[in-house]
Amino acid sequence: MIDFESIEKDGAAELSAAADLGELEEVASGLLGKRGSLKAAHRQLGALAPEDRVGAGRRLNEVTERLRAQLAARRSELEVAARAAALRADRLDLTEVVPASVRLSTGLGHLHLVTQTRDALEDVFVGMGFEVAEGPESETDWYNFEALNIPPAHPARGMWDTFYLELGQPETAVLRTHTSPVQIRLMERGELPIHAVMPGRCYRRDTPDARHLAVFHQVEGLVVDEGISFGDLAGTIETFTTAYFGSDIHSRLRPAYFPFTEPSAEFEITCTICHGGGCRTCSGTGWIELGGCGMVDPAVFEAVGVDPERWSGFAFGFGIDRCAQMRHGISDMRALTENDVRFLRQF
Ligand code: PHE
Repeated sequence: MIDFESIEKDGAAELSAAADLGELEEVASGLLGKRGSLKAAHRQLGALAPEDRVGAGRRLNEVTERLRAQLAARRSELEVAARAAALRADRLDLTEVVPASVRLSTGLGHLHLVTQTRDALEDVFVGMGFEVAEGPESETDWYNFEALNIPPAHPARGMWDTFYLELGQPETAVLRTHTSPVQIRLMERGELPIHAVMPGRCYRRDTPDARHLAVFHQVEGLVVDEGISFGDLAGTIETFTTAYFGSDIHSRLRPAYFPFTEPSAEFEITCTICHGGGCRTCSGTGWIELGGCGMVDPAVFEAVGVDPERWSGFAFGFGIDRCAQMRHGISDMRALTENDVRFLRQF
């Protein structure tokens, strides 16, 4: 007699024990192949008595069918698992945070000093209750100049050496020379009050030197609310200065001129090299200029449709690269754009 029961039981056990597609195909050929147990049983049929042969043949067919069905089911199960494993292996986690220890030991890169500085400045201002906003780097003459109370041919245009874009009428599209156009975009929306800082890249047709870059970064600040005074401006700048540079660094304002603020001031901070004692970097004064500021000029409010009888505000703007230079004692700002890893690795 042929032991169909153990052929089926053993076959079924082997099929379900196969752990991957390779193993499964081996089990399959062991069962169904030329030298497999089912073929062997088939050969044994010939030796049976004729009256037993028909019943045994049918049994063998039934067992073979059931094992084939089980093989197909197990195969698709293992295929699904294999596909899932391949997907898992291919997965790229773009949100993964690489710990500093791993980064250093594998030599992977890190954020550029200017980006780190921008992040740190944003943190300080967000901590003071400001929102962060952004605007485009290519601007129209209206946003970069006119709405800021700098009409065409105004002598103050000389303060910003401008790169023009070949777009539309000549000299109507520019690479923004400062972040102040973002003030205009924010006020234009008409959602008041505004307490925002606006960081971003700016462009000027300047020859780079130790303290200037043609492509640089600024952060603009704008507050428009009821009853805003010059005292709020001075207090905001002093708070930011000590929060970012440390409690031994202070700020002071000196009268200046900007077409979009009145009154206007330049703001200076304690020289971070000599801490106020006087050195070569600060030309012996103990102070270093960081940026400009002032009370929003009513002409600017008029350009964007803000009622100057109800609202008042202040604005400031300063260089992010200059901040990085001052905080880290970088003697030549051009190091920020040369991409020399010996410099960049230090931060
Ligand atoms: N936008 C001015 C500049 O880049 C700086 C500034 C901003 C001055 C806001 C006053 C108010 O020169």
